[in-house]
Amino acid sequence: MGQNIAILGAGGFLGSHITAALIARGHRVHAADHCLAKLSMTHERLHRHERDVRDAGFQSELLAEVDTVLSLTAICQPAAYNTQPLAVIRASYDDLVSVVQRAAESSKRLIHFSTCEVYGRAAMGADGPMTTMNEQDSSLLLGPVHMERWTYACAKQLLERTIWAQGRHAGLAFTIVRPFNVIGARMDHIPGVDGEGVPRVLACFMHALLSGRDLLLVNGGSQRRSFVYIDDFVEAVLRVVDRPRQCNGQIINIGAPDNDISIADLADRLIAAYRERVGPSPSAVRQVSAVDFYGDGYDDTQVRIPDIGAAQRLLDWQPHTSVDAMLAPIIDDYVKRYGTTLAEATPQ
Ligand code: UGA
Repeated sequence: MGQNIAILGAGGFLGSHITAALIARGHRVHAADHCLAKLSMTHERLHRHERDVRDAGFQSELLAEVDTVLSLTAICQPAAYNTQPLAVIRASYDDLVSVVQRAAESSKRLIHFSTCEVYGRAAMGADGPMTTMNEQDSSLLLGPVHMERWTYACAKQLLERTIWAQGRHAGLAFTIVRPFNVIGARMDHIPGVDGEGVPRVLACFMHALLSGRDLLLVNGGSQRRSFVYIDDFVEAVLRVVDRPRQCNGQIINIGAPDNDISIADLADRLIAAYRERVGPSPSAVRQVSAVDFYGDGYDDTQVRIPDIGAAQRLLDWQPHTSVDAMLAPIIDDYVKRYGTTLAEATPQ
């Protein structure tokens, strides 16, 4: 039987995909965000709320309607962490404490979307370096305070600890999901077209390709990420929703360890796939320093591979999509939405 679910942040990349999938699975969804443009669908079981999800009255109204709340709102673009750190901390922590509190008081289940970024600079256990990042044993290894890159991770970590405490000491039913570099259609924005500020790497690279400019490799591009495709990610989320008992009180990494590649490799594969699907492109790769690209206070994670043992065990889930398989539908989506003549709009 379908559940009554509220999604805070339903207008974002993850939220819009999760909403559509929950509707397809038979749930009733209250989709809330300040803008729902990315969620074009309508359905008799979908209630759209273009509202400020921080509004206390609205939060109470929404929670009264549902059994489960998914909270996805955040400013999750690294370029903002060292340039708008106060807004990032507010959005990742302050604005959400009341949601956690309200869910605990009204006995609603909370599924909170945290981040792989909480693991910080590297996979590190009590006895030294680890190969993968693990929910039970990895330290949360943030850089020093003047490296403002970690404002987001720190705020997200504090919210995780708040949720954990509400669960342990006040009976909140919760699950914390840590997504590891999900990519897919509708990710982020193209600066100057449908958003402002530097988006995450996929949207940066697609922006470059669609405008015939070079793809910029920050500090050489040897840093690595394990990209998980949105469809695999959404399937895992649906299983979290459907398994409240198994997932209660759990923190779950969702990612694709087999898709661990360098950013330089991602750029090369994206250029090749773009030429194959769309046609000749003048774009090449070019190196840029982190300071030139992000400004002072940026720091990075060199390798970020999830341990997905918990997801496999609790959700009976496995990611299936390789990086090469996900690039074609992603390119098609960007070309469909933006065309191939963004061009010349912004000088390089
Ligand atoms: C970000 C967020 O901070 C995380 O919270 C989030 O969970 C994660 O994305 C995610 O998508 O799951 P990060 O992986 O560092 O973390 O973000 P990206 O902007 O996608 O950058 C990935 C790497 O590419 C970084 O090393 C960055 O320096 C590099 N990069 C980015 C480039 O080389 N060129 C670009 O044009 C943009």
